[in-house]
Amino acid sequence: MKVGIDKLGFYTPETYVDMTELANARGEEPAKYLVGIGQQKQAIAPVTQDVVTMAANAATQILTPADKQAIKMVLFGTESGVDNSKSTAVYLQTLLNLSADVRAVEIKQACYGATAGVQMACDYIRSHPTASVLVIGADIARYGLNTPGEVTQGAGAVAMLIKANPDLIEIESESVFHSADVMDFWRPLYRSEALVDGHYSNNVYIDFFNQTWQEFQKRTKTTINDFDAFLFHLPYTKMGLKALRTIVADDQHSQDLLTEFEAAKKFNAEVGNIYTGSLYLSLISWLVNSKTITPGKHVGFFSFGSGAQGEFFAGKVGPLKHLESLTNQVTTSLNQRQQVNIKEYESMFMDRKPFDPKDYLFDTSAEKAQFYLKGQQNNQLIYVDTKNK
Ligand code: CAA
Repeated sequence: MKVGIDKLGFYTPETYVDMTELANARGEEPAKYLVGIGQQKQAIAPVTQDVVTMAANAATQILTPADKQAIKMVLFGTESGVDNSKSTAVYLQTLLNLSADVRAVEIKQACYGATAGVQMACDYIRSHPTASVLVIGADIARYGLNTPGEVTQGAGAVAMLIKANPDLIEIESESVFHSADVMDFWRPLYRSEALVDGHYSNNVYIDFFNQTWQEFQKRTKTTINDFDAFLFHLPYTKMGLKALRTIVADDQHSQDLLTEFEAAKKFNAEVGNIYTGSLYLSLISWLVNSKTITPGKHVGFFSFGSGAQGEFFAGKVGPLKHLESLTNQVTTSLNQRQQVNIKEYESMFMDRKPFDPKDYLFDTSAEKAQFYLKGQQNNQLIYVDTKNK
């Protein structure tokens, strides 16, 4: 039986900062950010969008009433959770009006959480072929103003409906994982910004990619020539390029893989790092932007979460009946964003949810999204669905 990703939905906040402006403000050559890092724009989340609302705004793009009825699990990959105990998946279940007959949990392992969700979902569907699973990758990447990591921030959510006989990507059952206790990137409970040893984290990423890819080839008796594209977790787009360069040669097939990578990085360069969702935003980018996309194309995926966990797995492009609606949805949401200047970005960055038991209400007059966070009352977050007030 084929299982995999039937539909993909995407949401990113409606404001972004331009990387040339950020480079100028930080006294860096714009080429460092645009070429050396490979980012053009960075999504900035207003305080009224957190991972729960972004996930709801992504999922609502794709779920029909019949889809909602078939969902038996909600697996929410995030490293930007909103509560130390209650899972984001349960908030999401309520906002999406899913049935109570659902297993709803949050999964955390840095940027890898959504891949754990995808693989658990596929395993579940293999034994429950009439069910569906909703998998989310949603995060707000924060390193801090004036830090080396600032250029690699971002915000957004990808929602994936995992089913039997999927329309977009069939996920193959063989995969190779690798994990080790590494302090390359982490965020202690008392911090809202990540701590990172940036250059070391790049090395860990490349090392995990090479280890899992080598082992995958051995186990599946495949080589680079069996793949039409490689997709990567993209904390910044140059990172995936660096990884791909470690395996390509000087031949036509390698050139083709580099061309496919250009398509796969386009949206990530315009959004920034969305941590758990980044690999799947790259999948959306490839499906929408590749000039060669056709059913049956074979694609390799490298998922990585600092700390660290890596996984290499493979998939095949499906019939693509949902590609047109995916293309319309994603291009519309990217095109309707508003640019903010550096001062506005800095003030949005500093405008955080109070870490405080007091009640508060946000100014939500600028919100255009269907779901947003209104504030806190009696130590409880108040989420709004504008279509169901
Ligand atoms: N024109 C063109 N390129 C230029 C340039 C110019 N004027 N000036 C510099 N560059 C290039 C450099 O040569 C370098 O390219 P290479 O890496 O290919 O050599 C690139 O721009 C970056 O330059 P630096 O290494 O000097 O940049 P930096 O020290 O300021 O930091 C960084 C870069 C380490 C990625 C930093 O942004 C960071 O710490 N980011 C967060 C951590 C991260 O994303 N790690 C990735 C792996 S971990 C992971 O994947 C999990 C996750 O999501 C966090």
